[in-house]
Amino acid sequence: MTSETITADAAGTWKLGDLTVNRIGLGAMRLTGSAAFHHGTPSDRERSIAVLHQAVELGVNHIDTAAFYFSALRSANELINSALSPYADDLIVVTKVGPYRDYSGEWGTSARPDDLRGHVEENLRQLGRDHLDVVNLRRMRQDSIAEHFGALAELREAGLIRHLGISGVEPRHLAEAQAIAPVVCVQNRFGLDTHDPATDEILRLCGEQGIAFVPFYAVAGEAGPQGATTAHDEEVLTVARAHGVSPAQVRIAWTLHQGPHVLAIPGTGNPDHLVENVAAGAVRLTDEELTTLNGLRQKAG
Ligand SMILES: NC(=O)c1ccc[n+]([C@@H]2O[C@H](COP(=O)([O-])OP(=O)(O)OC[C@H]3O[C@@H](n4cnc5c(N)ncnc54)[C@H](OP(=O)(O)O)[C@@H]3O)[C@@H](O)[C@H]2O)c1
Repeated sequence: MTSETITADAAGTWKLGDLTVNRIGLGAMRLTGSAAFHHGTPSDRERSIAVLHQAVELGVNHIDTAAFYFSALRSANELINSALSPYADDLIVVTKVGPYRDYSGEWGTSARPDDLRGHVEENLRQLGRDHLDVVNLRRMRQDSIAEHFGALAELREAGLIRHLGISGVEPRHLAEAQAIAPVVCVQNRFGLDTHDPATDEILRLCGEQGIAFVPFYAVAGEAGPQGATTAHDEEVLTVARAHGVSPAQVRIAWTLHQGPHVLAIPGTGNPDHLVENVAAGAVRLTDEELTTLNGLRQKAG
């Protein structure tokens, strides 16, 4: 099978509440320009629209976005709306609220609980929707998320949001949120070269409870918002060679092997990378390879 014929269900599906998604999705943050956020050259609009069309053709039905994903000339939500509306019934668009950027793109103070309705409505307007499929509360260093999550739970009760998730959290935040409303996904930084015991515990708890765990920066690794890491360990390169795939595909495949509840949302504005990332769902790592890669990660900070 060539990469072009592998579709987003190659690693199976998972349920976000009552919504079924293929385990390979797409992160929309990289559709807006050469660097994350407004610093950098805005993307070619037609290319980003083409990536979205192609993603859907490859079976991607889980797209992660945010109103604060914009560069000087591009908005991830606008691109999604223009490319994909009217939306197919099985397409799940997940957005996140909490962080805030002003019109010039500078980060503002994070949202207060009573700001969140406005943030949700901004996403509804930009995406052209009457309700949002899933909204993640992105924790912004606050100790307790109860008030913010409570505000989103009210919007869910009001029918503006179907399901809720949380992001950037520790296990205690999951328990805190669950005491208020059901949580269908947790989105944390997670990858071969990041090792945070609290996130490992969240991964485990999510698996136990049937909650999706959705890593970000799995490809970018240490480089984070700057782009894909080029610092690949020899172990990763060896596994990549053995499968005839790229290091980025190994990084994605490794996350998917952490449990059936792990969903991938690699971010790209590059059509070739999109095909590669979707095809990563078909990479089956051996137990020996997993042991090697897991060992590598134990050394990571
Ligand atoms: N909850 C949160 O706080 C949070 C934070 C950050 C991101 N996110 C979400 O998570 C998604 C994933 O994170 P991310 O996009 O920042 O990072 P990522 O998926 O780990 O990596 C994206 C970077 O890697 C490059 N890339 C992607 N596929 C590649 C491939 N096959 N080969 C080589 N390079 C490749 C991309 O550049 P090209 O465009 O050139 O492919 C981009 O620079 C985001 O898009 C966003 O939706 C959430």
